[in-house]
Amino acid sequence: MSGSISVDFVGHQFSETAEIVLADIKISVKAGELVSLIGRSGCGKSTLLHIISGLLAPASGCVRIDGKTVTKPSAKWNMMFQKASLFPWMTVQENVGLGLKFAGASKGQIAQKTDELLELVGLKDKAQDSSQSLSGGQQQRVALARSLATSPSVLLLDEPFSALDTFTRSALQQDVAAICKQKGITMVLVTHDIDEAVMMSDRVFVMDQNPGRIIDEIKVDIAWPRKHMSQNFQRIREDLLTAFKGTEKTESFRSLDGGRYTADSSAA
Ligand SMILES: Nc1ncnc2c1ncn2[C@@H]1O[C@H](COP(=O)(O)OP(=O)(O)O)[C@@H](O)[C@H]1O
Ligand SMILES: [Mg+2]
Repeated sequence: MSGSISVDFVGHQFSETAEIVLADIKISVKAGELVSLIGRSGCGKSTLLHIISGLLAPASGCVRIDGKTVTKPSAKWNMMFQKASLFPWMTVQENVGLGLKFAGASKGQIAQKTDELLELVGLKDKAQDSSQSLSGGQQQRVALARSLATSPSVLLLDEPFSALDTFTRSALQQDVAAICKQKGITMVLVTHDIDEAVMMSDRVFVMDQNPGRIIDEIKVDIAWPRKHMSQNFQRIREDLLTAFKGTEKTESFRSLDGGRYTADSSAA
């Protein structure tokens, strides 16, 4: 199985005079493992994910995927963002098949793969619809199918569900985790939502800021599929809350947002 990630003492600052955004980040993720990076808004989660993806070069240290140093983005490790960013003038199917088209796949290959992926994400009947006509959750499902089209070994997710309503978000969390498990895809999820991290990960890395760094690592040994109300779920959630006690602005973190604990109630 491919998709192992090793982040080796990555440090970053955006210029020599700017603040240090990341310091000595060392993480290793096994192929097929689902991990989350959780921390307050501004602690450097997106910066770290961009470095892992090759979109941004680290000021120090390096990232290796399957033993090779990452120097640029690749279709083998795809990113998903908070916004689906679909092309509004294209159909759902055309949006999903775009990466394959760029990769030189034939029309037949594209049709077969996009059919399979739209079925997987539950949007088979929307294939010929305009992507503009979809709800936010459906658009993220299209973005997910698009990310899966090039058969990546790694999915890098930057708060992809944070703009969705609770029910839609919950369904997508379950589906994305199940798809990654089923296909053996390694997932790195950035989130500020503790429940989301517990719901979707084998392991959670807790980050603190100034400078952005990993301060704890919590194993989530709960069978799949997971239920919010289970004792194990609540136990791990408490462990994560305790890990966060050492981070800055603890009071604001303690707030409950719509029944969920969030690491930073002011974050999007
Ligand atoms: N392109 C950039 N140039 C300068 N500073 C940046 C840039 N991107 C992010 N930062 C700064 O780096 C820090 C971490 O940002 P970010 O990685 O977006 O945090 P998070 O995703 O955890 O909210 C913040 O202080 C932010 O202002
Ligand atoms: Mg971010």
